Amino acid sequence: MSLQQRKILLGVTGGIAAYKSAELTRLLKRAGADVRVVMTAAAEAFITPMTLQALSGHAVRGALFDPAHEAAMGHIELARWADLVVIAPASANTLARLAQGLADDLLSTLCLATTAPILAAPAMNRQMWTHPATQRNIELLTERGVRLVGPDSGEQACGEAGPGRMAEPAEITAAATALFASGALAGRRLLITLGPTREPIDPVRFLSNRSSGKMGMALARAAIDAGADVTIIAGPTAQPTPADVKRIDVETTAQMHNATMAEAAGQDIFIATAAVSDYRPATPAGQKIKKTAETLTLTLERNPDILGDVSAAFPALFCVGFAAETENLAEHARDKLERKRLDLIAANPVGDGLGFDRDDNSLEVFWPGGHRSLPVTTKTRLAQQLIELIAERYQESLEKLPLP
Ligand code: C5P
Repeated sequence: MSLQQRKILLGVTGGIAAYKSAELTRLLKRAGADVRVVMTAAAEAFITPMTLQALSGHAVRGALFDPAHEAAMGHIELARWADLVVIAPASANTLARLAQGLADDLLSTLCLATTAPILAAPAMNRQMWTHPATQRNIELLTERGVRLVGPDSGEQACGEAGPGRMAEPAEITAAATALFASGALAGRRLLITLGPTREPIDPVRFLSNRSSGKMGMALARAAIDAGADVTIIAGPTAQPTPADVKRIDVETTAQMHNATMAEAAGQDIFIATAAVSDYRPATPAGQKIKKTAETLTLTLERNPDILGDVSAAFPALFCVGFAAETENLAEHARDKLERKRLDLIAANPVGDGLGFDRDDNSLEVFWPGGHRSLPVTTKTRLAQQLIELIAERYQESLEKLPLP
């Protein structure tokens, strides 16, 4: 799971734990999030806006009405911009003001104006934490859907020991990440082929294509975030493997075919994103071919159709195909949907600088009786949208099954 492209508004309030907000900003950024920081006046007594500006890469906001900032991104826009509000440290005073619904500074106003989830990491002296007033405020806030991380118990800056220490930045980052996990594929097993294949011509040369494996890896990550158990069968790709994914490396189509048939049993969903070579040299040379002849003819033979074979051999498996097309996108995609007996197909235009080895893409998705367009966006975002759509369609397919 990651925070790739998530927009996080980090609220820093007045408490000694504010020094840990610097590390938190760094961890959130490292996990891929775009972080904008809002500080309360009291927070500035503990950490300088300059530190958090340098780490987040954006000017830190403080005042509710700051003409310079309001011109760029007004406070309401900022509230809408956020995918998540993290308040760390959340002081007793801030929690009390949020519980009352006050809007007398920028952070409290944003918390009222946003529809994004709010995650608070309380930090205060143990007496203040256990005080009935604070506990009542916490109850009110959690009833309203505010999520809490911590506080931890232990030694405190004031010299006392007990509950009230702010959760560690790594723990807050993990809690933020978990909030994005949709759970749409919780407990489901997913198999994905990805990347290109290589078909040997001789021991040093091969036939291949421009597939980078980016879309397949983005899907693997999105499926992990959605709670699935993910296995990938990867052709040669330089893309890093997302954490928690089981990876099987192959080179040729024949190897990918064998590995996929072996892994398909027991899976719930199969997504074929691999750009498989339809043909391979019929008799690869045993030794490097010498440049003696003026012309050289290679005889190619058909490769097995992995997706077609899997969908025929495992009729209960929910099969998703990809169709990279240079023309007549919808027509070709619908034809493949039927011919390969698929449950869903994602078609994208390729050629002319589109599709392969890029960071963004668009998809036209078809299923028997339906269609949805996913407009141009990053492959990361596109993968999340496609995984949500696959989860929806998969759920629907289960509901249509006859009762035992
Ligand atoms: O028929 P076409 O190759 O255009 O279909 C593309 C879809 O079929 C993709 O999902 C691709 O991964 C899969 N495929 C396959 N084995 C092949 C050829 C394509 O799994 N030999």
